[in-house]
Amino acid sequence: MINFILEHRKYGRDFIDNVQDIIIHPYFKGLKSYKHHGIKRFDHSLTVAYYSFVIARKLHLDERAVARGALLHDFFFDTPLEERRRIRKEERGLNKIKVTQGYTHPKTAAQNAQKFFEISDLEEDIISKHMFPLTPDKPEYTESWVVNGVDTTIAIKEFFVSFIQHPYWSLSGQINYKL
Ligand SMILES: [Fe+2]
Ligand SMILES: [Fe+2]
Repeated sequence: MINFILEHRKYGRDFIDNVQDIIIHPYFKGLKSYKHHGIKRFDHSLTVAYYSFVIARKLHLDERAVARGALLHDFFFDTPLEERRRIRKEERGLNKIKVTQGYTHPKTAAQNAQKFFEISDLEEDIISKHMFPLTPDKPEYTESWVVNGVDTTIAIKEFFVSFIQHPYWSLSGQINYKL
């Protein structure tokens, strides 16, 4: 049984009904072991997904696609640091940036999402374009813009909170800054 704080949020139950299969999937749960903006990648993804879902509902957008796409937007597992350094070393100029995880992870997340779940074109757009304008692909749908904006806002908050080491209660009910 999932016992998230968000179950007690106004739209928490509706949100969970749309994403339950993802939340309980063993690979997706693996994101609890990865750090992202100083907190667990699982918790970052859950926060972005829930607030994107709420906005989608209020704007009468495709709230299910928003919830699922947003939850999967950072569905990637870190390449070991040594390997990343080696890859970067082999590249020249701008390509050094294009091979970084920050740049490649939206496409990797979309590939992982396709591998483990059935995702629609809209959900693929949400995932693969969430880093625009840091990556060049511009979102095609309003839903993708919503997730893009919520992700950026939440990321700034998480960076700040982890920087000052303030205990951060995530929607999954965990204090987050210690991983
Ligand atoms: Fe991301
Ligand atoms: Fe993110």
